[in-house]
Amino acid sequence: MPQSHDVHIAALRQRITEALAVLVPHGNPAELYDSARYCLTGGGKRIRPILTLLSAEAFGVDTDDALPAALALEIFHTFTLVHDDIMDHADSRRGRPTVHVVWGEDTAVLCGDYLLGLGYDQLSRLPSTRIRRVVRTFSDTVSRLCEGQALDKIFEERRDVSVEDYLDMVDRKTGALLQAALEIGGLTGSADDEDLLALRRVGRELGRAFQIRDDLLDLVARDTRWGKRIGGDLVEGKKTLLLLETLRIANNDEHAWFSRIIEDNGLPPEDIPEARDRMERLGVLEMARAAIDRHSDAAVEELVALPETDALEQLIRGMQARAH
Ligand code: IPE
Ligand code: IPE
Ligand code: MG
Ligand code: MG
Ligand code: MG
Repeated sequence: MPQSHDVHIAALRQRITEALAVLVPHGNPAELYDSARYCLTGGGKRIRPILTLLSAEAFGVDTDDALPAALALEIFHTFTLVHDDIMDHADSRRGRPTVHVVWGEDTAVLCGDYLLGLGYDQLSRLPSTRIRRVVRTFSDTVSRLCEGQALDKIFEERRDVSVEDYLDMVDRKTGALLQAALEIGGLTGSADDEDLLALRRVGRELGRAFQIRDDLLDLVARDTRWGKRIGGDLVEGKKTLLLLETLRIANNDEHAWFSRIIEDNGLPPEDIPEARDRMERLGVLEMARAAIDRHSDAAVEELVALPETDALEQLIRGMQARAH
């Protein structure tokens, strides 16, 4: 594929990052505004806003005109991470201490609330005739993501989670926002109902590939840009695809070793390297890689129904292979 798309994608990322850097004023109380600025300026791959801008471009819209929608999605994503880190007891994100570690949980909750408002403010700046539909799509996405996050938490305590349950949870906590990123990009331009449905199908497959990759990297990431604790999902007792598949195929001693995670609602941090080795030997890591490839291929296949999708395809392939 032509290198030009990489250059273009990097330029969009730069544009988004520059716009986010000047969004939060130096207001009072300082901890509220400082924490919000900390979130929006601390790196991140900017996948969702890039998806919005590429989708908008495919339907004839300039970056300038679609930018407020792209920023709204990234601001909302950032907000979900702040609250997710409280829920997941995570101390680091994007290679820095999390907001609740720096400012405390009360400020982290408020920082998230503030960011949600800031996201809607960006949406209101969108020069689109379909703004109502954009806002409705955005609000539906907020609900779906909250449902997914609620299920993620409920599953920590449940023993009978199936792969189907896991995928449904992922479709909501991760897929919904990727779908919205693509759909809202299309809504800013000329996408018709059929195009919007195709964009949603792309987003769903992409969400599954993206979250399974995140769950895999949670255990195996080596890239310094990963920026999150290794093994956090096992420590928290998350029902990831990796754990579900391990419990499905392990027998006897191996099964007993992993069942502790279910009995005790998590694994002691010192046992993470052994868990990774055992999963590797069981072939579960390879199974996860195959699932990522399958869902990424399915996402790319769904692109055929859409115009000008080379750059989107390149982004999806980059997400499939990402190391952080
Ligand atoms: C993390 O998303 C949350 C998930 C849905 C797995 P990203 O991996 O896109 O996080 P940043 O924005 O690049 O830090
Ligand atoms: C996705 O799940 C989080 C959200 C949808 C906000 P994770 O909890 O696995 O995300 P990370 O790994 O903390 O970024
Ligand atoms: Mg989480
Ligand atoms: Mg988390
Ligand atoms: Mg994760």
